[in-house]
Amino acid sequence: MPHTFVKLARPDDWHVHLRDGAALRAVAADTARVFRRAIVMPNLKPAVTTVQAAAAYRERILAALPADTGFDPLMTLYLTDATSADEIARAKGSGFVHAVKYYPAGATTNSESGVTALSRAYPALAAMERQDMVLAVHGEVTDPDVDVFDRERVFIDRELTAILRDFPGLRVVLEHITTREAAEFVGEAPGTVAATITPQHLLYSRNALFSGGLRPHLYCLPVLKRESHRQALVAAATSGSPKYFLGTDSAPHAKDAKENACGCAGCYSAPAALALYAEAFEDAGALDRLEAFASRYGAAFYGLPQNRESITLQRVPWRVPEALPFGDATIVPLRAGEELRWRVGAVVPA
Ligand code: NCD
Ligand code: ZN
Repeated sequence: MPHTFVKLARPDDWHVHLRDGAALRAVAADTARVFRRAIVMPNLKPAVTTVQAAAAYRERILAALPADTGFDPLMTLYLTDATSADEIARAKGSGFVHAVKYYPAGATTNSESGVTALSRAYPALAAMERQDMVLAVHGEVTDPDVDVFDRERVFIDRELTAILRDFPGLRVVLEHITTREAAEFVGEAPGTVAATITPQHLLYSRNALFSGGLRPHLYCLPVLKRESHRQALVAAATSGSPKYFLGTDSAPHAKDAKENACGCAGCYSAPAALALYAEAFEDAGALDRLEAFASRYGAAFYGLPQNRESITLQRVPWRVPEALPFGDATIVPLRAGEELRWRVGAVVPA
């Protein structure tokens, strides 16, 4: 008998893009409805590089939400060549900045002001190690000579290994892992190293990007990989290891920016995220491991309290809308127009 009902501690999203302005007001509730907390990415324009900017952004996020959601945005700073040890100390002291995000310059959306050479970030990384501030990593090299599908693997060899060697006390989250190599590297690394995994990388291989034609809404970075990698990610996520936890990388872009001759990278997974993870875990015969992945391991890694509220999933099929409002534009969510197996119920108070 398949399960018809699953109750789990309320989950957190350890990697999300909430954007700003009208886009923020359009998407924030889709995350806050389900997730109690989320690590909010700092790749705005301009990037969130200071504690002061992070504080103001945090207020804008809270102002975009109904007062009663109880959602706690966990802020991040955007690491640049110029990030100072003082800024890291201020971040630690703030109580609301929980990670610093490393984008190799040019690796993805709004990463122009990212780190241009790893060595330039060393003073900031040393300060983070001293202050016990988490480093969240977009793990792809930007070297144009490296094949797009190899950029994560090469990043591990060229950069991540050096970071762990030179800063053994630094806690590092390798974000949105997409390869067997990344899953294995994290699995074998010390307990200071963890990874987030997105719903799309658990559910789709790169074949889906080209199935019946080009599918811009499945294009994200790091790009989907071959099926054997997807299987390795499912095995990691459902292994029961506390090193892998939920991070949707929900990354909204307007429909016309995705369906474009030069389409933006990012999947808008927030409206369906928990149901999508439930599908992936159920298909792997591991629904009983969803709660720890979605609601326990991330908080433990970040050193934050466990959530006491619960949430339910019911086997009540529903159809994801074809499009949703996005300021003056529209946005196409992941699985648009398709049916999902699981519906998320109301939050159950502690
Ligand atoms: C993200 C975005 O749009 O901000 N895009 C994506 O494909 N994941 C940036 C990122 O996390 O790489
Ligand atoms: Zn992201």
